[in-house]
Amino acid sequence: SEFEGRGVWRYSAALPFESGVSIEEGDTPLYTVPGIEDDLGLADLRVKHEGMNPTGSFKDRGMTVGVKVADELGVGRLACASTGNTSAALACYGTRAGKQVLVLLPAGKVAAGKVAQASLHGAKICEVDGNFDDCLDVVAELANRGEAYLLNSLNPFRLEGQKTIGLEILEQSKAETGAYPDRIALPVGNAGNTAALYKSFRELVAAGAMDESEMPKLTGVQAAGAAPMVEAIENDWNEVQPWDEVETRATAIRIGNPVNAPKALPGIRATGGTAVAVDDDEITDAQRALAREGVGVEPASAASVAGVRKLREAGEISADEHVVCLTTGHLLKDPDAAAAAGSEPVSVPADADGVLDAL
Ligand code: F0G
Repeated sequence: SEFEGRGVWRYSAALPFESGVSIEEGDTPLYTVPGIEDDLGLADLRVKHEGMNPTGSFKDRGMTVGVKVADELGVGRLACASTGNTSAALACYGTRAGKQVLVLLPAGKVAAGKVAQASLHGAKICEVDGNFDDCLDVVAELANRGEAYLLNSLNPFRLEGQKTIGLEILEQSKAETGAYPDRIALPVGNAGNTAALYKSFRELVAAGAMDESEMPKLTGVQAAGAAPMVEAIENDWNEVQPWDEVETRATAIRIGNPVNAPKALPGIRATGGTAVAVDDDEITDAQRALAREGVGVEPASAASVAGVRKLREAGEISADEHVVCLTTGHLLKDPDAAAAAGSEPVSVPADADGVLDAL
C-alpha cells in the first residue's frame, strides 16, 4: 500500500496531514447481523461499529486530526460542548498532546461512562445548567474571545477525520460484498457525520474513483424528541428550525440545533436519502436486537437500526437493498441505559441448587 499509516491515517492522502495525535483510531469492524437482516427482510444488512474506537466512539477519528491542528497552531487550551462522547475523546487526545482540556456538559444529561472518561483522561469538567445547544453557545463565545480552541464538529478539521468512516465503509463493503452499499443509515445529532460522509463521497467522485450514481443514500435518523433535521427534510425546508425543548433516552443526540445542517441537508437530498424519527422504545428495541447479535451499542447508535426498520416497514426501503447502519458509540458508554434495557439480576444463595432453582 502507498499508505504507511494505520486506521484513520491510512487515508492520509485525503487528510490535511500525514499523521496526527494518534492512539490507533479507525479500522473498525463491519459486522454482519443475520438475525436483524432476516427480520427486516433485507438483501444485506451490516453494522459499522464505531464503538470499537479507542475511547468507544467515532469522535476519535475527528480528534486525531483536530488535536493535531491545535498542536500545529500551538494553542494552549482546547474546549468543547458535549453530550458526552466528544468530551471523552477530546480529554483523551488533548491530554495526550499535552494540552489543557475544558469540557462543558449539560448537567444531569450525560451518560455515566462518558463523564468518567472525561474525568480520568484529565479534562476540567463544567456542568452547565442548560442543554447541549446552550453549552455550545458558551464554548463558541469562549473561542471567539480567544480563550480556547474549539473542537466541536463546527471545526472543519474534525469532519476531515470523520470522512474516513465513509471511506472505510465503501472499501469494506466492496471487499466483503462486491459492491458499495445502496444506503447508509446513521444517527443524527449535529449532523457532522452526515456532512462528513457526503464530503467523502464528493471527493471520490471528483477524483474519478466513484460514479455519482453510486453514492449511498444518506439516511439520517433522529430521536422523535429531538428531530429538527427530520422536520426540515419532511417539509422540504432549506434550513433547520432549531427546537428549544429536546428530550430523549438517547442523550448523545439530545440536540435541538444541528450546527452542520447546512452541509448535511444537501447530502441527504443529493444522494436520494431521507430522514426519519424514531421514538425511545423503538431505539431500545433496536439496542436489544443488536446486543443479541453480539453488537453492544449505546442508545443513540441503535437509532440507525430503528430507523431502517421503520423505513422498511413503511415500504421506503426495498428488500433488495444493501444497507449499512452506523453505530456510533459503545454499550459501556451508557451502562444505566444498558441495564434498564436488559434483564433484571435475581438474588440467589451461595449454592448450586439455589442457582438452579432460580433458572
Ligand atoms: N451518536 C453518538 C453516540 C454521538 O455521541 C453523537 C454526537 C451522534 C451520534 C451524532 O453525531 O453530531 O455527527 O450527527 N455526539 C456529540 C457529543 C454531540 O458531544 O458527543 P453527529
